[in-house]
Amino acid sequence: MSSTVSEVPFAGTPELKAKQAAFSKALHGKDADSKVGVSAFLNKDKKAHEVSINDFLENWDGKTDKDAEQKRLENYNQSTHSYYNVVTDFYEYGWGTSFHFSTYYKGEAFNQATARHEHYLASKIGIKEGWKVLDVGCGVGGPAREIARFTGAHITGLNNNDYQIQKAYHYAKKFNLEKQLEFVKGDFMKMDFPEATFDAVYAIEATVHAPVLEGVYSQIYKVLKPGGVFGVYEWVMTDNYDETNEEHRRICYEIEIGDGIPKMYSVDVARQALKNVGFEIEYERDLADSDDEIPWYYPLTGEWKYVQSLYDLSTFVRTSYVGRQITTAFVSTLEFLGIAAKGSSRVTAALEDAAVGLVAGGEKKLFTPMQLFVVRKPLNAE
Ligand SMILES: C[S@@+](CC[C@H](N)C(=O)[O-])C[C@H]1O[C@@H](n2cnc3c(N)ncnc32)[C@H](O)[C@@H]1O
Repeated sequence: MSSTVSEVPFAGTPELKAKQAAFSKALHGKDADSKVGVSAFLNKDKKAHEVSINDFLENWDGKTDKDAEQKRLENYNQSTHSYYNVVTDFYEYGWGTSFHFSTYYKGEAFNQATARHEHYLASKIGIKEGWKVLDVGCGVGGPAREIARFTGAHITGLNNNDYQIQKAYHYAKKFNLEKQLEFVKGDFMKMDFPEATFDAVYAIEATVHAPVLEGVYSQIYKVLKPGGVFGVYEWVMTDNYDETNEEHRRICYEIEIGDGIPKMYSVDVARQALKNVGFEIEYERDLADSDDEIPWYYPLTGEWKYVQSLYDLSTFVRTSYVGRQITTAFVSTLEFLGIAAKGSSRVTAALEDAAVGLVAGGEKKLFTPMQLFVVRKPLNAE
């Protein structure tokens, strides 16, 4: 399991960016930024939606051999773009506008836990009022909005997906945070920001989409000011994971396919990649490796006992096993009736695989979505 895979091309060229922007406009249709869930799903252009679905599924076609893996690594930019074109509405419908897991505690509501998880990262990094901060892989801006409010910093969200950027701007405006937030379309493997631009950088469950971790970490190192801190919740396979074990590999592949990840790396690879690009590790901890009564993957289980507030019932119904079966049946019916794009039900099946893989990976402690690293670019860095 190595991160130094042979040369993986940087795909974020201006031509590709322009093509993706035009496609995104055609796909998501009019008023795309303000529509969510089912209405956003049905608002899409069916033909363009089919292209996105095929683009995503073509890269995750059930194969786990080295050639299939290399293809995914080489296509990371376009295939991730297609993945998020297809799943963003499902994510918002099931999860809200912060696309990440959290630790959960008794008596604490889902949204409260999500915000706490974001505050924790911001406080570990030590983000201060007025700082210029970069959010790498910002989704539709849920964490950026929360961290901007919590710290008073100015946050730039970097994202490869045009649709998500459009939505992030919509929410920034809706919540009067336009002065503190901006969103930039770009590939985190090839950032266009000048060197030493940011006082701090964070990434929440996003850099796992990098084909090579050194690629994204070295870009973050470059755009950070000397002495600046990078904090990340990284998705990694833990020390318990054995790539030669068939069951482990199956679980890992379910996570890869259902979450649009070219290749999952181990915690050792991530740690070494941070050091290789020049970072000094100041703190690291797997937040999932705890005795918490409520596991991080609880919203994907069917366990009602974990639900902590009446308000969370609606989230839980949508994300739990039964809720997911209802969504799958609904999407299959829409596809059968010709209302939803062909292949839509294969996407919900892939998301189902992801949920099963994430729960199994969590229960067996093979996987964590919250390996926290807090690392610094040395003050005397050139
Ligand atoms: C699981 S989502 C997390 C989003 C956000 N951090 C949050 O917690 O809500 C991963 C994000 O990484 C972005 N992403 C994936 N590959 C990227 C790339 N090569 N460059 C920039 N962003 C990328 C996706 O578009 C998506 O927004």
